[in-house]
Amino acid sequence: MPGRIKVQVLADADAVARAAAGVIVSLVRDNPDAVLGLPTGSTPERTFEEVVRLSRAEGVSFAKVTTFNLDEYFGLSGDHSQSYRAFMNERLFKHLDIRLWNTHVFNGLARSPEDECAAFERKIAACGGIDLWFLGIGTNAHIAFNEPGSPADGRSRKVPLSEATIAANSDGRFFKDPNEVPRHALTVGLGTVLDARRLLLLAMGEKKAAAIAASVKGPVTTDAPGSLLQHHPDCTFMLDRAAAAGL
Ligand code: F6R
Repeated sequence: MPGRIKVQVLADADAVARAAAGVIVSLVRDNPDAVLGLPTGSTPERTFEEVVRLSRAEGVSFAKVTTFNLDEYFGLSGDHSQSYRAFMNERLFKHLDIRLWNTHVFNGLARSPEDECAAFERKIAACGGIDLWFLGIGTNAHIAFNEPGSPADGRSRKVPLSEATIAANSDGRFFKDPNEVPRHALTVGLGTVLDARRLLLLAMGEKKAAAIAASVKGPVTTDAPGSLLQHHPDCTFMLDRAAAAGL
């Protein structure tokens, strides 16, 4: 039955990051073997800083935690400064006691994207599935790199990036020029995301307000991938006031 998304509106982006970090660190404290799904991008940056601070302050170890990332640019090596592997190592992993071999990001240079994606799905299953998938959302309501029109039960695969996503990722925050942005990515599917036991989506800023309104209140449609999260039994959106403006 649609309409189950729980919405928490917090004062500002900092409050969202603190609340989200609290959820992640508590989960690991209660379940040191937790399997986490993680995003990259602007959305998780402050939350990752808070996860590092809070886990140190509270003595919570990530040594037995396993992680899977949503996506990776196809054609970039993990050593490339704009790869999502490099982002994760720099922003989170190197500041925690997590074992790098327990962190999984697609290999953007995989010879066979099909084999790489099938192996990724098998690894998630072998770990017993994802306990909590932490998500951001695109301005067009994409989830991971599942652009509008992606199948609701899709699995990991190679996808073309939309012009909107290429533009959003070359606005100077990450790439400076649209021509530098790879044209394809490896991404988990919406089915892979919906299989997680719990979902936590963060959105901050007015640019996300329309995507959030479509996801929470709109009809469940593959035109707005975020709306498919209404089908998940344990999905929370943590928003600042600007992102919640359309609710
Ligand atoms: C990132 C990802 C994307 C982003 C989304 C929002 O791994 O899968 O779906 O979550 O594009 O990006 P930001 O956070 O940069 O606004």
